[in-house]
This record gives sequence, C-alpha cells and structure tokens, in this order.
Amino acid sequence: MSKKLIIGNWKMNLNVHQASLYVHELSEKIPEHNDVEVVLAPTNLALQTLSLQVKRRQFKLAAQNVYYRDDGAFTGEISATMLRGLVQYVLVGHSERRHIFGETDKDVRAKMQAVVRNELIPILCVGETADERANNETKHVLHDQITGGLANISSEDIERVVIAYEPVWAIGTGKNARPEDLEKARDTIRHQVTSLYGEAIAKKVRLLYGGSVSADNAADYLALPGVDGLLVGGASLKADVFASVVEKARSQGREG
Ligand code: PGA
Repeated sequence: MSKKLIIGNWKMNLNVHQASLYVHELSEKIPEHNDVEVVLAPTNLALQTLSLQVKRRQFKLAAQNVYYRDDGAFTGEISATMLRGLVQYVLVGHSERRHIFGETDKDVRAKMQAVVRNELIPILCVGETADERANNETKHVLHDQITGGLANISSEDIERVVIAYEPVWAIGTGKNARPEDLEKARDTIRHQVTSLYGEAIAKKVRLLYGGSVSADNAADYLALPGVDGLLVGGASLKADVFASVVEKARSQGREG
C-alpha cells in the first residue's frame, strides 16, 4: 500500500512567524510520520524560512500557485524556477484561482507544463460548482478540466502528477462531499486519465479529495480504494486539528 499524501493548504492565512510556530507545534504532535507524506502549503513569504525548518522535521512544502513563464517582466508573479529547491509540490488550478482570479484551463495547462518542466510535482485541482452539479454536469466538467490541464503532459511526466478532486460547493462550506460523490468522481477521473495514458500509467497517478475535510470525516475518504490522500484547507490551520487528520491517515495505512 502506498503512503497516503496529506496536504495542508493554508491559503492567505498564517504569517511567517505563525507559520514557523505551527511547524514547530506540528512536529511535536507527529514526530515520526514516515508512513504518511505530509505537505504544507504556506504563504510564499514563509517558504524560505520553512524550507530550512521542515528538512529537519521531514515535512514537505508546496506552493499555492505559480506563474507559467520561468522569468521576465511579470510584476508580482513567482515562477516554478524560483520555487525549485524550496518546494516539492505546486497547487495548480485551485478553484479559488479559477473562480476568484479567472484562471482558465489554458492557464492551468501552461502552469502544469511549467511545474513539470522545473521538475516539481503539480497537484491539479479539479471540481464542479454547485450549479454544475445541480445540472448533472460534473462528469463533463471533470472531463474538460482533466483534458485541458493535462494536454501537454507526457506519459513519462504524468506518473508524478497528483489530481485533487475538490468540488467547489464543498470548499470552505462545511458541506463535505459524501464518500459516494467522491467514488463517482474518482471513477470519472481515473477513466479519463486511463483513456489518455493507458491503465498501467493511470494507476500511478495519485488522487486526493478536498472540500471541508475534518478530523471527523477524513477516515471516510481515506478508506476508499483509489483515494491516495487529502487536500485540507480550514482544518489545516490549527496544528492540533491537522495532526489528527494526519493520524487518521496513519491508522488507515496501518489497517490497509
Ligand atoms: P477546505 O478547503 O478544507 O477549507 O474546504 C479545501 C481547499 O480549498 O483546498
């Protein structure tokens, strides 16, 4: 059984000082977690400090966003080239990027390429809105987001890609998806990746769930076959709550 991957997306929360205290606290709560891969996505401002701190603590880091060009006159942006050496993972196409900042599948595709080109691991976020769900468009939306996001990813690079199913209606709302919703989305996503790359390769792509994950519901998702971990927002902001989510993944790993 492969290690579960648990990612904490802090969004625009926790300043550099708070981030550093958090890592200290988290490492006290989960001193040894070789059986779970724990990744933190702090503000970019904290990446340098945390990259020194987490090496000793065995956590990994992710960036919450990236620009698709490697350098140049792009005021305010940060490139994957700059993130190399600081993070291992990069979130791409998070629904807040798509819906608040207007990122399109074309942007997402270019960002995916930039991340892979710089030998980092992209976490491609996909998911339908409440309206799309009500109109039975979930399959269609996932199909478009996956095809659009992966368009330029080679069969060699796809093995490293992580896909996070994050229904927009479940993010930050407390209305987490039912395990059966996730099973349906998992099947659609796996089917789509299989049709693009073949079964053997598609099996290696890790799939996460995100959307109002809590210490209480984490185990329900982790128990599902073909679900490799969780992308946690609100419940990752407090080290003790996030540590309990990680603990669920550890016990899941032991049971599996
Ligand atoms: P949430 O956020 O856990 O607060 O719903 C998840 C995410 O946006 O990745």
